[in-house]
Amino acid sequence: MASRCYALIFPQSWSRRARLRPSCSAVGDAEYIIASDASALISRTQNVVYLKDGELVHLTAKGFSITTLEQEDVSPVVDKITWAIKDSDRGDYAHFMEKEIFEQPTALENSMRGRFSEDGSTANFGGLNLTASELRQIDRFMFCACGTAWHACLVTEHLIERFARLPVEVDYASEFRYRNSPLDRNTLFFVLSQSGETIDTLAALREAKRKGYRVLAINNVVGSTIAREADGGIYQHVGPEIGVASTKAFTSQLLLGAMLALYIARLRDMSFSDGVLYVNALKGAPALVRDALKQAAHIKGIAKRFAHHTDFLFLGRLSLFPLALEGALKLKEISYIHAEGYRPPR
Ligand code: F6R
Repeated sequence: MASRCYALIFPQSWSRRARLRPSCSAVGDAEYIIASDASALISRTQNVVYLKDGELVHLTAKGFSITTLEQEDVSPVVDKITWAIKDSDRGDYAHFMEKEIFEQPTALENSMRGRFSEDGSTANFGGLNLTASELRQIDRFMFCACGTAWHACLVTEHLIERFARLPVEVDYASEFRYRNSPLDRNTLFFVLSQSGETIDTLAALREAKRKGYRVLAINNVVGSTIAREADGGIYQHVGPEIGVASTKAFTSQLLLGAMLALYIARLRDMSFSDGVLYVNALKGAPALVRDALKQAAHIKGIAKRFAHHTDFLFLGRLSLFPLALEGALKLKEISYIHAEGYRPPR
């Protein structure tokens, strides 16, 4: 096969959707491709080299090399993309967002697989790299994220406070580094990001690490910048999310937030029997989502009935308030119709 090169360098500062990786180059058979996201390459190769900010790739028909802007050589590290090719094929669906909505039950099963204890009373997250006794020292949580992932943090706040009885603060990642948020020694800092590349979330992670905190990440894309820089974390395992509006990644973040609340609660005051009830409820979630998806035709009818309205209000209390915010965000993003999420007045 003749050698071919496609070049598209995508510095992070050019990326309007900050979830794009600065750039990654793929190593195939006798061809080298440069792209901004691994999902563009998966049909050609599974071997990728992720470039860091400030690195240059030199491509010729014979191969490639990487240097810094100062011309120092960088040894390329080849990573393997673990998704199947079918994950980045939209099949019979009209678009990726529709496909990913229907993938939710499987995505939830994948997020929870192997993460419940054998006695069925709690969750296990070895990737946090924290022992039970270290976790017992934690007396406060701080979560940072943007957009949909921020909404998932707000639900997690509610669940940890309710079940583990520990205070939680949620900050918008783009604000965190401009405030001087007091974090004490026993605060555990989490960032949430589907892509693991959102620049404000990454900046919040770096600021918290600069202050000496242990930072954990809930993240979907294996090997993303956030995953690499965090001290540990939880992978979502929902496969690539190609649709611009987050769907299956959001429901998986809610599930993992609920599992984290359970894990912490069981290290503290939650009883074995309450833990078993909680685990069984979570295990039932994919079937409930499957049932909800069977309503698709009915929901389409409702959408047609209301599509001519110009303003929508989504209402929700407690953990449903962040879902109201998320519903409004989805409507705005997808239909460009004005929408707001509100707490009902007391
Ligand atoms: C909304 C949406 C965005 C992302 C936000 C954070 O549907 O997709 O609001 O949630 O840009 O992205 P991640 O989770 O990749 O950090």
